[in-house]
Amino acid sequence: MTRFDFDHAPERRGTDSQKWQKYAGRDVLPLWVADMDFVSAPPILDALRARVDHGVFGYARPTAATVEAVTGALAQRYGWKVDPEWIVWLPGLVVGLNVTAQAFAGPGEEVLTLTPVYPPFMSAPRNSGRAPVGVPFTLAGGKWEIDWEALERAVTPRTRLFYLCNPHNPLARVWRRAELERLGEFCVRHNLVLCSDEIHCDLILDPSLPHIPSATLSPALAARSVTLMAPSKTYNVPGLGTSLAIIPDATLRARFNRAAAGIVAEVTCLGFTACEAAYRDCEPWRQQLLAYLRGNRDYLVDALPRALPDLKIEAPVEATYLLWMNVAGLGLPNPVAHFEGLGVGLSDGAPFGARPGTHLRLNFGCPRATLVEAVRRMQAGR
Ligand SMILES: Cc1ncc(COP(=O)(O)O)c(C=O)c1O
Repeated sequence: MTRFDFDHAPERRGTDSQKWQKYAGRDVLPLWVADMDFVSAPPILDALRARVDHGVFGYARPTAATVEAVTGALAQRYGWKVDPEWIVWLPGLVVGLNVTAQAFAGPGEEVLTLTPVYPPFMSAPRNSGRAPVGVPFTLAGGKWEIDWEALERAVTPRTRLFYLCNPHNPLARVWRRAELERLGEFCVRHNLVLCSDEIHCDLILDPSLPHIPSATLSPALAARSVTLMAPSKTYNVPGLGTSLAIIPDATLRARFNRAAAGIVAEVTCLGFTACEAAYRDCEPWRQQLLAYLRGNRDYLVDALPRALPDLKIEAPVEATYLLWMNVAGLGLPNPVAHFEGLGVGLSDGAPFGARPGTHLRLNFGCPRATLVEAVRRMQAGR
């Protein structure tokens, strides 16, 4: 069996990497924006090389083989039979969040979501004069829970849409079937379109937890759903801008396409090439990546609270390569600046909806040695 090497990563300093450019010229380990430092899967590299060797880079359409790679993976992994007609290709998921807001809510109408959450869930509605409404999660018994009563109270006659992050960034939470069914029933009862961002669905770390695509819960929910997916996070190809919206209902799909028309750029030929190889040929790589990320998670969950006893990891990290941590106990006026000063670049929790100064997010999609060094630096400031 081929062993993939996640312990070594190429030098990204001096490249086009957003993650590394932020701290150019400074000795700061960047553990912020959500891409990984690993080389992408070999079948993707081979497919891209062959596509480059072809040498013609015209306007592209997905081939039947590309579509089959996606629908095949969804059927095999999640038992979801997706009709190719339901797929709308997009250059990014944030694009999908923005188009969804414009397609299914009018100016001033409301988009509900659960916070903390990936910041574009709140900014996408705002970009077009729609109103985001965040309902905070509650922490109970070491688990992030939906506050169902607060969610009901947040619905108004202007609520049109519900944005779900499944699994959740930044809480790394995998939703259980009963929770998804209750959310689905909530959307149907209040006549809301459900936009389910499932970009992290192939990154579930706990093997006992299945990913359940929201649209598979019931035909009634499928008919009011927009599911956003991409190979970006799992196979480390976010810079290739290839994503998809899966919209089973033809009327909803037409509204979505109308809102996107003339504004949303097409996916590129290299993006389609990478996407096809990712979903069809990279399962052994993905399984080894998951094992490696699990090891990174276990290392951090053990080492961080030992290095900084006042830092709290409040709930299990079930999915993603993102660790949400409570640093309020450290009593720092500006935790991000504090850790940058020690040489570790983390994401501030405030834009996700956390109380300023309380939470940080750490990206552990990197070689273990980087994390060992980051923990050493973070501890040094104690
Ligand atoms: C939940 C979620 N949605 C969307 C994105 C970004 O998607 P894209 O780069 O395709 O716009 C991210 C990236 O971190 C994410 O975590």
